[in-house]
Amino acid sequence: MSLSSHVSDQSAKATIGHLARFVEVSHDTPKHKMPERTMTGQAAASIIRSELRLDGNPNLNLASFVTTEVDRECLDLMIENLNKNLADTSQYGHSSEIQDRCVNILADLFHAPPDNEGGAVGTATIGSSEAIMLGGLALKWRWRAQQAARQGKKPEEITTRCNLIFSAAVHVSVLKLCRYFDIDARIIPLEHNRYTLDIDQAISQCDENSCGVVAILGTTLTGEFEDIKRLNNALLKLKAKKGLDIPIHVDGASGAMVAPFVFPDVEWDFRLEQVRSINTSGHKYGLVLPGLGWIIWRRKEDLPEDLIFHVNYLGVDEATFNLNFSRSAASIIGQYYQFLCLGVEGYTRIMQLAVDNAKYLAESLTSMSEGLLIVHSQNDKPSLPMIAFSLNPAKSLKFNETTFVHWLRERGWIVPVYTLAANASDITVCRIVVRENFTRNIASMLLEDIRLVLVALADHHGHQDLVASLKAARDDQHQHRRSKQHAERVAQMIQSNQEVGGNHGDVKKADKTGKEKKDKHRTVHTIC
Ligand SMILES: Cc1ncc(COP(=O)(O)O)c(C=O)c1O
Repeated sequence: MSLSSHVSDQSAKATIGHLARFVEVSHDTPKHKMPERTMTGQAAASIIRSELRLDGNPNLNLASFVTTEVDRECLDLMIENLNKNLADTSQYGHSSEIQDRCVNILADLFHAPPDNEGGAVGTATIGSSEAIMLGGLALKWRWRAQQAARQGKKPEEITTRCNLIFSAAVHVSVLKLCRYFDIDARIIPLEHNRYTLDIDQAISQCDENSCGVVAILGTTLTGEFEDIKRLNNALLKLKAKKGLDIPIHVDGASGAMVAPFVFPDVEWDFRLEQVRSINTSGHKYGLVLPGLGWIIWRRKEDLPEDLIFHVNYLGVDEATFNLNFSRSAASIIGQYYQFLCLGVEGYTRIMQLAVDNAKYLAESLTSMSEGLLIVHSQNDKPSLPMIAFSLNPAKSLKFNETTFVHWLRERGWIVPVYTLAANASDITVCRIVVRENFTRNIASMLLEDIRLVLVALADHHGHQDLVASLKAARDDQHQHRRSKQHAERVAQMIQSNQEVGGNHGDVKKADKTGKEKKDKHRTVHTIC
């Protein structure tokens, strides 16, 4: 074949490929049946991409705790390792080693006893839901073994059902655990103004068939931390009094990656004797793209041997205790990257900023809305960086939270609306989750849009008094912000003056001509 005909063949192919994209996309591609004919990869990708464009923008999704953005380096590493099956430890031993390192890092962060033979005990999962299932199964198996020993029977001869105690604020995965694995759910209801576990009620529900209590470090509903230390102490008292040794599983889906960095003095983890297992979501404040969860057990004996299977059909003996077998190593590699790259310093800065931004948002929502919004989350106490708020029922508004978030959606913000759990299920709340990429600037834009939506809704529904006060509130806010900015600038000015003053000698030594003048000039510029 001549060179010229080869070139024209190539360009003809390229043209057909290019045209095919448009021709094939216009076909009526079946949605629920496999198409009969092949199409180019370009065409298929184009069809899928154009539909997915209709999804919301993940970065404006304030509903979710799940990470939506990672560094380029992290993403590249994840893509490079997508094709490795973590279950195949014989072939991908290094990926498996990285999983073990992450388990050890988390166990250390959660203060697991350092003397575990063979290292920390835990595994990666698809998310916290799978981790919760594994944690619950370990509690059930442990309880069954104890019952069997007490009754002189084999574990499989125990037919009584065990029970698990938790507040109604739990994530649905805890309810699934109970239903799927035949555990009686003893649910402690919430009350108005109490959206976490009532510890006295929890203790009163404990008996010889209780396999454990689930405590939440950061509830999905309001972001509050349940008082795990008080629960631990109450369970220790119960043990001393009645001989009942009831363990705690901590659902730290979000909180377990916030508390160690921002609230290191809050005791919620393996520092507490009754805490036997902890789950967290790597894809939430672990800062990895989905799906990744973790479960860590206090000691080897807290993961009953009976739950561990050994397989050798991939070439070596492999211990497996996950619900799922095959999975990509990508997110585990991403997690290790984040641990290495950010370290304690990086996680602390990110989590502290998120907590500060949530606090700022909660305060601003309260002050800017003229009493129209009630914030339920306790952002001035150790809690997740999220805000749960409602429209104030005392204002007798002619619009509700659903309309409010619908109008916010028109401005691009995705904010969920949901009801709290029994006995507070008559309260409807909106939730804003503050993640790493939620900056103070985004917070200001969101606040302004919330104010605009409230003004528009109040106007639309004839609440003219509210329109006036919300507009006035903006002026006050504006003034407040200006005076706050002014105060911040003055503080900055003082600091940079001190820095310039402090460095004076060095500056003079380094550059006797001009540098000092330049720094002074920069300082003056900042004041302006
Ligand atoms: C407290 C809590 N537990 C468990 C889960 C389930 O986590 P995952 O989505 O990682 O399965 C969530 C999810 O938001 C949660 O908030």
